[in-house]
Amino acid sequence: MVRAASGVLCARPSLFSNNARDAGLGTARRADAHAGVRAASGWLSARAPDAFSATEEGTGGYHLPVFPFEVAAWMQAAEGRFVIDGTLGGGGHSEMFLQAGASVLGIDRDPEALAHARARLTGFGGRFSTWEGNFSQLREIPVIREGRKADGLLLDLGVSSRQLDTAARGFSFMREGPLDMRMGPSSPRTAAEVVNSWSEADLARIFFEFGEEPKARRIAAAIVKQRVVGKFESTLELAACIESAVGRHGRTHPATRAFQAIRMAVNEELESLSAALAAAPAVLKPGGRLLVITFHSLEDRMVKRFLRHRSTACLDEPGWPEPRPNPDYQFELLARKAIVPGADETSRNPRARSAKLRVARLLEPMP
Ligand SMILES: C[S@@+](CC[C@H](N)C(=O)[O-])C[C@H]1O[C@@H](n2cnc3c(N)ncnc32)[C@H](O)[C@@H]1O
Repeated sequence: MVRAASGVLCARPSLFSNNARDAGLGTARRADAHAGVRAASGWLSARAPDAFSATEEGTGGYHLPVFPFEVAAWMQAAEGRFVIDGTLGGGGHSEMFLQAGASVLGIDRDPEALAHARARLTGFGGRFSTWEGNFSQLREIPVIREGRKADGLLLDLGVSSRQLDTAARGFSFMREGPLDMRMGPSSPRTAAEVVNSWSEADLARIFFEFGEEPKARRIAAAIVKQRVVGKFESTLELAACIESAVGRHGRTHPATRAFQAIRMAVNEELESLSAALAAAPAVLKPGGRLLVITFHSLEDRMVKRFLRHRSTACLDEPGWPEPRPNPDYQFELLARKAIVPGADETSRNPRARSAKLRVARLLEPMP
């Protein structure tokens, strides 16, 4: 196939195979159902953001960024460029872009992360700005609505080490805390709501789908049985119930997968990713780069299918007389396969073990 001034010319090479169904986003629910945001009542906004000190050096123990070298190399941040860091976290990746001379807009739905990163990156003055909210709403950010487009967009998915390690956030099955797990006030529900009110079938479904937990049904049944006696209130209470239902085998804690599934449901993580990918072409300049780091096979599959479809010039189906131009053809894959961490990185940062980085570039619009 050829991308020419007149559009895309499609021909059918012998081994050509594409499938429109691979767009992968068709059935995902959109993440704009955040209207019912919880008020400050249950949110942790009362906790002082200035608990973080501007004098902390480096990450201040907040979060070690994954793929530091690869992200720097693929993003090509430089003076005069504008990068959106859709998952600001501790600000590690943003700091690299700022040091390279770029301007950065850091997005996070967690007010604590924003406060920490603002304090850390204050020295970059007006080149660094922030926006609190879900990256699913990229198009709603004031500077974007005003028409500013970015040279790069980074999504480094999941939660930060700080969020995981802070017992009061309720993400950890190893630390006593409330069953919360919200990344921020825009998360539509708490873990307690999921665990104490979702049906046994819905719990089993998320454990199976989001957690890839083979004992999903047994865990769901144990939770529903125990909550009749009294509602779950704490992380360790839930972890103990799961452990007593399935036992402990091997080194991985038996609650690992169920906790991950509950976190993904609480924060509508797949829906948010789907919406952000759909919005990415609208916020990037032609030539702008999209970098997505995933830690979960469902997320990676979604990114892979999205990019594969959007970087395919011609679609072909059995029964079509000839291939047709793909109306969604917008990206060029800069790395054909997912980039995975090297041994150096995983020994320095074990959390990077399951990370995958995918990189693409937005093409010029077609005439
Ligand atoms: C893995 S950490 C990012 C770490 C960051 N790259 C660094 O160098 O420190 C992910 C961050 O993204 C935020 N986040 C995750 N999903 C989000 C979403 N849908 N919208 C906005 N922020 C999100 C989390 O709150 C968390 O702070």
